[in-house]
Amino acid sequence: MREIDLLGSAVIRPVEDRLNLIRTAEGTSRQFENFTCYGYDYFDNPEFGVGYGGYHYDGRYKATVKRLCDEFCLKKGARILEVGCAKGFILYEFHVLGFEVVGVDASEYAIANAKEEVRDKLILNRSAELPFADNSFDFVLAKEVIPHLNEPDALRLITECVRVSDGNRIFFEIQCAESNRSSELMKTWDVTHMTIKPRSWWVKQLEELKYPGSFHCKELFPV
Ligand SMILES: C[S@@+](CC[C@H](N)C(=O)[O-])C[C@H]1O[C@@H](n2cnc3c(N)ncnc32)[C@H](O)[C@@H]1O
Repeated sequence: MREIDLLGSAVIRPVEDRLNLIRTAEGTSRQFENFTCYGYDYFDNPEFGVGYGGYHYDGRYKATVKRLCDEFCLKKGARILEVGCAKGFILYEFHVLGFEVVGVDASEYAIANAKEEVRDKLILNRSAELPFADNSFDFVLAKEVIPHLNEPDALRLITECVRVSDGNRIFFEIQCAESNRSSELMKTWDVTHMTIKPRSWWVKQLEELKYPGSFHCKELFPV
C-alpha cells in the first residue's frame, strides 16, 4: 500500500470558494432532497449554494488520466473500472485513449447526463457490492466516493474494489477531515458525506484490510 497524490490539480472548487458558498448557502427542502439523491441540485444547479454548481466536461481530467496511465503502466485495451464515476468524465479520457471502460454510480441523474460517448458503459449501482466477477479489471479507481457510504459499507466497498481488480492497480482518493471544524464543514458542504474521518483512521482501515493498492487522503477543508 502506498500514498501518492495523483489527482492534486483536478479541483472543482477551491477551499476559499467553498467556504464563501457555505456562508451563503440556501435551498428549499426539495432541493436538499434532490441534492442527497445526487440529482440536478447536487451536480448542476448554479443557484444552490453547495455542491458542484455545474459539473460540465472541460477536459480537466486529460492530464489526470495521463498521470494514472504512467503511474500504473496502463496500456491501451486494459480494462478500467471507475466506482462513483458521476458523468463519466474521467472514463471518457480513458475511452479516447483506447481503454475498455466501465463505470458504476449511485446517481441516475449523473448517468443520464453523462458524456455521450461512454454513457452506455455506466451502470447504476448504489450498493457496496460490485456487480462484477473477481479479477475483472486491470485498474480500479474511486475518486471522492468511499466517504459517501456509511462506515460498514465504505469498508465493504474497499474490499469489493480489491476483489474485482486483478492485482494492486487500484487508486482511491479519499476525502478526510483532521479537526472538528473541518468535519463540520465537510458535512455542511455535502450532507452525503457519511464517513468523516481523519487520514490516520483511513490508513488504519486500509492496513487492517491489507489493501494492496494506492491512495491519497485529501482534506476538503484544511482550516
Ligand atoms: C463527490 S462525488 C464524486 C464524483 C466523481 N468521482 C468526481 O470525483 O468528480 C460522489 C459520487 O459518488 C457517487 N456515489 C455515492 N454513493 C455511491 C455508491 N454506493 N456507489 C457508487 N457511487 C456512489 C455519487 O453519485 C457521486 O457521483
